[in-house]
Amino acid sequence: MEKICSICGATFTPSYVYQLAVTADKRRQHFCSLDCRKAGLGDEAFRTRRARRIAILNQKGGTGKTTTAVNLAAGVAERGHKAILIDTDAQGNVGVSLGIAGEKSLYHVLVEGTDPVEAAIPVRSCLDVITSDCTLAASEIWLARPNPEQRSRVLTRRLNRMQVSRRYDYVVLDCGPSLNLLNQNALSYADEVVIPVTCDYLALVGVKQVLHTIKDIERHLHHAVRISAVLPTFYDGRTRLAREVLGTLQGHFKSKCLEPIRLNTRLAEAPSHRKTIFEYAPQSHGAQDYNRVVDWLLATTANQETSARTTAAA
Ligand SMILES: Nc1ncnc2c1ncn2[C@@H]1O[C@H](COP(=O)(O)OP(=O)(O)O)[C@@H](O)[C@H]1O
Ligand SMILES: [Mg+2]
Repeated sequence: MEKICSICGATFTPSYVYQLAVTADKRRQHFCSLDCRKAGLGDEAFRTRRARRIAILNQKGGTGKTTTAVNLAAGVAERGHKAILIDTDAQGNVGVSLGIAGEKSLYHVLVEGTDPVEAAIPVRSCLDVITSDCTLAASEIWLARPNPEQRSRVLTRRLNRMQVSRRYDYVVLDCGPSLNLLNQNALSYADEVVIPVTCDYLALVGVKQVLHTIKDIERHLHHAVRISAVLPTFYDGRTRLAREVLGTLQGHFKSKCLEPIRLNTRLAEAPSHRKTIFEYAPQSHGAQDYNRVVDWLLATTANQETSARTTAAA
């Protein structure tokens, strides 16, 4: 069927995938040539990559999940990469930490089918956030439907329908401290998990639970999730226990165990000022340590892209 080029107005019969694009506001555009596509879509013209989908997970509370999710997403955004941070915890700490309360939250996306793009609030340059609040707890009940496959995949369906992962470079999911349906939804969507672990005696118990959960998800939902990093948090090198726990984590997870995030009061203060650690105390140990995590994330993305290009070329 003939179409009219949205740029030059020429009439043509589309034969290639690149000749059609659906824009953010859901308009269909047609392009007779690659030049017209580039003229119409600019930088987005040949964007085929999809975002890294990272869940920050540990079933134990208070291990630094929200702190890590906020500063990781904000850190990559500060360096010019588009990121969306999605709060899947009904405590709604992400919104509180950044001083925002969205009109539409993850509850609306999950239960009412609100377009995630509409629910996303731009909070900084390159950083959008979908907040949560206590209403999210109600979505647990709504999610608890008979088909176990369906109830764990609602978030994936909602986010995929609007091609969220094509609009961003990073989708970061801040998970709650339990194994509820919301976390299962987050894991069904994520490709990889970062596990923040406090450097205390019970740390390894928490990590074992996460490993178990990931295996369960893989078995029941046939969805592979990779553990990309274990991140020791609240590290106080003056105590022997912290040094021992760090040694155990490094022995077990080898290069997947990142350099620890030190215990740092500035990290605890930043949320009360509605700021990321990079805005609140850019010279602090907290900012230095999270900058290192951001470096790691960007470096591993670059490695993945290089190996994908090598494979494609081969
Ligand atoms: N490295 C750190 N040093 C000091 N306080 C921290 C550190 N990381 C997080 N905090 C504080 O500890 C509390 C729990 O951290 P949070 O990220 O909310 O954990 P979770 O999301 O796993 O429950 C918060 O008040 C946070 O500001
Ligand atoms: Mg939290």
